[in-house]
Amino acid sequence: MTGPQEILAPLREAEIRSGLIIRRIGTTIHLFQEVESTNDEAAALASRGEAEGTIVIAERQRRGRGRLGRRWESPTGLGLYLSVILRPAIPPQSAPILTLMGAVAGAEAIERTTGLTTTLKWPNDLILHGRKVGGILGEMAAEGARLLHVIIGIGINVNQTETDFAGELRQIATSLRVEAGQPIDRTAMARSLCESLDGWYERFLSHGPQPILEQVRRRCLTVGRMVTARSGDEEVSGFAVEMDDLGRLVIRDATGALHHLVAGDVTLTG
Ligand code: BTN
Repeated sequence: MTGPQEILAPLREAEIRSGLIIRRIGTTIHLFQEVESTNDEAAALASRGEAEGTIVIAERQRRGRGRLGRRWESPTGLGLYLSVILRPAIPPQSAPILTLMGAVAGAEAIERTTGLTTTLKWPNDLILHGRKVGGILGEMAAEGARLLHVIIGIGINVNQTETDFAGELRQIATSLRVEAGQPIDRTAMARSLCESLDGWYERFLSHGPQPILEQVRRRCLTVGRMVTARSGDEEVSGFAVEMDDLGRLVIRDATGALHHLVAGDVTLTG
């Protein structure tokens, strides 16, 4: 039986790897005590030719990055900070579907590990009981029309307590431990995430984006709500009608005009 001490113990590569049921994601795992950002580490490995499916995990990130230039708080041993290298044969403009894939895999892995039902706030927030428990940062390298690699970085707040969240984060963030009412085994979470990513990536390679889009639609909190979306200097308010087949959020404003958003920051207003 696993006691609280083991549950809060540092990650070990051999324990994450042992008995993993995967085809390509997690065949190589690099586990670091501390990095600037696992996305940067994975991108550096990818540009030196590292194989598709390689995972980078860190116990702490000095400069964990979120979307839109934000910081991702990455305290030692509390969260899961994981990035995966992908090299699909798709054009660069199709790569954002893989960020949605990361969100679907993250939600599934949380459910399998904790039993907690996880929803998504478009485009890539993992939500438990109305608060953010994780997020996905997709980044790519391309040469003209050729996609070189995609890095999908996933951050999940696992064993933080309420007091570990400082300032405004305390109102909007949560962790698996807070929501489950008990510490959660990060090794189990990391293993489950590798297996879910692997399953969804295989489905993507065999069947294209539709299975991922279906899952996002099933879990998405954003569609069917009144929202305000900010993207750069632009702000759009209105009704979120749907997520289209390109993964864009479609918003109908007060004049009836439709706006198709590729990225942005969405606030649910009603
Ligand atoms: C967001 O919600 O804004 C995205 C957060 C993504 C955080 C993860 S943690 C692992 C990977 N490394 C990073 O620097 N960022 C991503």
